[in-house]
Amino acid sequence: MSTKTIKEATKNTSKKDADNKNGNSVNAKDNSSDKDDADGPILGSGRSYFNDYGVAVGPITHIREEREQLLSAKWNNFSVQLMGATIGGLVSNIDLREELSDEIIAELRSALLAYKVLFFRDQPISSEQHVAFAKRFGELEVHPFLPGAEGVPELVRFEKSAEMGGYENGWHSDVTWREVPSMGAILHNIEAPAVGGDTHFADMCAIYDGLSDEMKERIDSLYAVHDYIQAFAVLVPEDKKEEMRKQYPPVTHPVVRTHPETGRKILYLNRFFVSHIEGIPKEESTELIDALCREADYQEYQCHFKWEKDSIAFWDNRAVQHYASSDYWPEVRIGERASIIGDRPV
Ligand code: SIN
Repeated sequence: MSTKTIKEATKNTSKKDADNKNGNSVNAKDNSSDKDDADGPILGSGRSYFNDYGVAVGPITHIREEREQLLSAKWNNFSVQLMGATIGGLVSNIDLREELSDEIIAELRSALLAYKVLFFRDQPISSEQHVAFAKRFGELEVHPFLPGAEGVPELVRFEKSAEMGGYENGWHSDVTWREVPSMGAILHNIEAPAVGGDTHFADMCAIYDGLSDEMKERIDSLYAVHDYIQAFAVLVPEDKKEEMRKQYPPVTHPVVRTHPETGRKILYLNRFFVSHIEGIPKEESTELIDALCREADYQEYQCHFKWEKDSIAFWDNRAVQHYASSDYWPEVRIGERASIIGDRPV
């Protein structure tokens, strides 16, 4: 894109102005208009609306400090390579099949909080070793709807093929329809397609921090209703529907939750499980959820992971959302996931 095009585009702030007036602006800063000179805005330090679609371009400046901290972080028991600006750490020099010391587990937990998702390569763990490793971080949940690994109910098995496509290609955090959603999930790849099937992660802390002050004020005290029916109704047999409904009624969680360990604020909404925001008209609620969820589409908030056999991803399910590309059908993609029980969002 030429500088001229951007200069012309940044002058078009009508959508931004309209959205700001309606309290709809989801992006943090647009200081281009402060920088107008005879030749147009000086580019370099802020977000600008590129066109009438409300899509922002330009540097996302508030992620700089965290990126610099993560780039210079040092770990005693393993090495970590930063994958995205503020999210994703590829961990090396560790063997997850071993009985790891409490010190190493504590350091991995600190790394998880810092990078929000950790990745590991070449970890040929058995299902039992997978469960044993996950249990070092807390009690594990058993998923009531998704199929488990044979003889290991704590592991959800995602087995995709020509007969079963991948339906995880939407931004979400896991099981937010539970009163107590999981704090983290550990996904071990057993068979990866030759091409595709990457999982993408979005930093919902950085996304919250990047919202405009007006938007933060608008959503900070709102609650959203999360309901498994949205995504899993088709998986529940007719004769179990009533029982499941009783066991898993719709739950409300704050739209902005506070991370119980880091204290950071997190945008906690997803289109998979959220039916609506309480206390506002349905249409407004749908528009607001959609606009907020679209923030995860900005690549600057993301990191991406290409799976290989025996790769592992360990995500902080409170702080990130994930999206598994469904571009490999009819190839096979198999993974098993352990989920660690978390806290009730507040
Ligand atoms: C999931 O949505 O938890 C599965 C993610 C994946 O298969 O990459």
